[in-house]
Amino acid sequence: MTTRIIGTGSCPGDRVVTNEDLAQIVETSDEWIASRTGIRQRHLTTGMGNSRMAAEAAKRACENAGIRPEELDLILTATSTPEYCFPSTACQVQAEIGAVNAAAFDISAACTGFVFALITAESFLASGMYRTILVIGADELSKVVDWEDRKTCVLFGDGAGACVVRAEESGSFHGIMGADGSRGPVLTCLSRSGGNFLTGEKPEHGFISMDGQEVFKFAVKKVPECVNELLAAQNRKKEEVRYYILHQANERIIESVAKRLKEPIEKFPMNIQNYGNTSGASIPILLDEMNRQGKLDKGDTIVLAGFGGGLTWGAVLLTW
Ligand code: UT7
Repeated sequence: MTTRIIGTGSCPGDRVVTNEDLAQIVETSDEWIASRTGIRQRHLTTGMGNSRMAAEAAKRACENAGIRPEELDLILTATSTPEYCFPSTACQVQAEIGAVNAAAFDISAACTGFVFALITAESFLASGMYRTILVIGADELSKVVDWEDRKTCVLFGDGAGACVVRAEESGSFHGIMGADGSRGPVLTCLSRSGGNFLTGEKPEHGFISMDGQEVFKFAVKKVPECVNELLAAQNRKKEEVRYYILHQANERIIESVAKRLKEPIEKFPMNIQNYGNTSGASIPILLDEMNRQGKLDKGDTIVLAGFGGGLTWGAVLLTW
């Protein structure tokens, strides 16, 4: 038994915001943003919100997989920007798409969330508990970005991506996950639930705060390490990998990872120029684009790799 992706879908935010648009509100330029990050524009949502983007991506993934939502046994949503503490985004999606037979819960691992959720889904399939699972990555970072902070506001976008996974006989799926909570402070977003009744402390609204250079150094070291560890553990060679689909945080991070892995940059598809960093959604949005453009052939070996807040990291090697 192995885990195969049988359908994908995505739903970016509905409004395109260019680098020039942002140069109207903070001191920045298209030249700075594009040369430091590769980003030219991002999509922000004007009203759909996290759960409705997630539900739309989910519907498209079910259609692409050729299944009815009633066939889903479980919905996992990787998100750091839910609308409620409860119900979870996954439960909101379950109601919206009519997946009446599915259990549902969220996973919080920032930009690594989709990879963690996919590996979690694999464990449920491998145990035999479930047969068909919907895995979503959704984030609406625009609501936790400080739009006066040019160091962060130019980086992020809103969107959701989803995959339907199923237990099948052939192919392979292997995952690896890691975390280092001691380095959490380099990338944080304070929960909006601060405040204390007894001390009179008022709740605060959190914004993303990041030591960009520390995260950059962490990513370019940890991602190649993690991919090499995964390949070595499975006795697989880099030559067998057709694509490395990495979390889209910065074009320079992806180029540096390619160099450190000694792999050609053509094996590292990118769409960061159009979407910015959509956190947990970036990998499934890219996967969906590639799927719909016919860039993935059945039997291809691909590697997905994520990194981000926590700090967390993870990678999956799978047969398409
Ligand atoms: O998915 C979550 C994971 N996050 C990431 O992976 C982010 C990783 N980090 C990065 O991608 C990069 O560190 C950034 C893109 C965030 C920043 O790039 P950098 O090359 O590390 O720039 P920097 O922070 O060293 O800033 C260089 C200069 C500074 O000016 P001074 O001090 O040299 O005068 C900044 O104030 O650029 C300035 N700067 C800007 N200038 C124009 C910072 N942000 C901007 C801006 N526009 N938006």
